[in-house]
Amino acid sequence: MLDEKLTKNIGLRGVTVADSAISLVDGQAGRLLYRGFSIQELAQKASYEEIIFLLLAGAPPVDAAISQTREDLGRHRVLPKEIVAGLKSLPLNAGPMDVVQGVVPAFAATDSLCGSDDRQLVYQSCLRLISGFALAAAAWQRIRLGKEPVEPLPDPDISHAASFLHGMWGRIPTKGEAKLMDLLLILHAEHSFNASTFAVREVASTKAHLYAAISAGVGALSGPLHGGANARVMGMLLDIAELDKVETWVTERMAAKGRIMGLGHAVYKTEDPRAAILRQTAEKVLAGKKEEKWFRLCLEVEKVGRAKLKAEKNLEIYPNVDFYSSPVLYGLGFPIDMFPVFFAVSRVAGWCAHYLEERFAEAQPKPALYRPRANYVGRLCGTEGCPWIAHEQ
Ligand SMILES: CC(C)(COP(=O)(O)OP(=O)(O)OC[C@H]1O[C@@H](n2cnc3c(N)ncnc32)[C@H](O)[C@@H]1OP(=O)(O)O)[C@@H](O)C(=O)NCCC(=O)NCCS
Repeated sequence: MLDEKLTKNIGLRGVTVADSAISLVDGQAGRLLYRGFSIQELAQKASYEEIIFLLLAGAPPVDAAISQTREDLGRHRVLPKEIVAGLKSLPLNAGPMDVVQGVVPAFAATDSLCGSDDRQLVYQSCLRLISGFALAAAAWQRIRLGKEPVEPLPDPDISHAASFLHGMWGRIPTKGEAKLMDLLLILHAEHSFNASTFAVREVASTKAHLYAAISAGVGALSGPLHGGANARVMGMLLDIAELDKVETWVTERMAAKGRIMGLGHAVYKTEDPRAAILRQTAEKVLAGKKEEKWFRLCLEVEKVGRAKLKAEKNLEIYPNVDFYSSPVLYGLGFPIDMFPVFFAVSRVAGWCAHYLEERFAEAQPKPALYRPRANYVGRLCGTEGCPWIAHEQ
């Protein structure tokens, strides 16, 4: 007999499935904390390396911890030759998110610590993956353009942000470019139980190894309703192209029951604090450049889109993290299909923190294998099941 009384919650909205001490997303107040520190504070004062330590180790780095983290990340800036050969064997039109999802298990195959039950060793694998994943993503961007991957820079004084840009561009970025990338990495590093993080935790709950879990996260992030939204925001801006076309474009989009990408959030019912920081950043870094046009278009889409959603659906909808990051990434010269890849490069830190928390029972004493149930609405023919008619071969 089916139990009619069981709760069905499509999309698991509002359902608490675990304890976590990694980040707090307060959708009502528009507040985001990484391990207790506000995103505004961290965006102003921290580096991405400090964020990695904060998320993975659980506390801000003190004394030698930050130089140790930089050294570890630098030491792990290695692309195994098998991975480079694998990347070179792919069709050049392979989607970058597919490529970086596929590269994660290749890191497993080249990690002698893979599958360890020792937190310290898995922590080292996390740092190796954070470093290597960025290099592999950057290498793919070069390979698909017919260029050779660059020799990684192990120097710990070169930031993760600079190493990633160097991997793509083949030149060391300016201080301004590296600082901007550092900020973008900080803002995208972690966001509690979103779809991709939940995917990571679900795989971790089976006690599968780190790389199996992270590759599931990349797959979930690639969807247009999640990390794929930033690329679609840019597609939308290019499609609209002119300020005076925004009104018509949004009206037609709404009439066709389409979504305005970059607006709305499953948790934030007020402004996403990351979007507010990115709006200011976009205004500052694009001022006077030809890409400023895309920032101006964003402002107009936000204004018109929000007004129409309010008027037609009585919805208060605000920009999310993917809205203003798009003109910034475009201004930095990222190809549009690399926008979600950048997101994954950043989020791998948050995913690793969640893997550690889930795998080593750090927030609740006895985590369980995730196993929701489905409400079966398929064929039923009584208690014995439906009769199967055998066919002659
Ligand atoms: C992110 C998102 C999925 C969250 O939405 P949600 O809170 O789960 O709400 P739903 O998807 O159930 O949508 C609720 C209503 O708001 C509307 N809505 C939400 N966001 C919208 C948007 N960006 N454009 C147009 N309508 C939107 C939906 O059409 C729906 O209306 P309906 O009830 O008439 O069908 C949604 O806002 C969205 O699709 N945004 C665009 C994609 C995006 O930017 N994703 C990145 C998220 S960080």
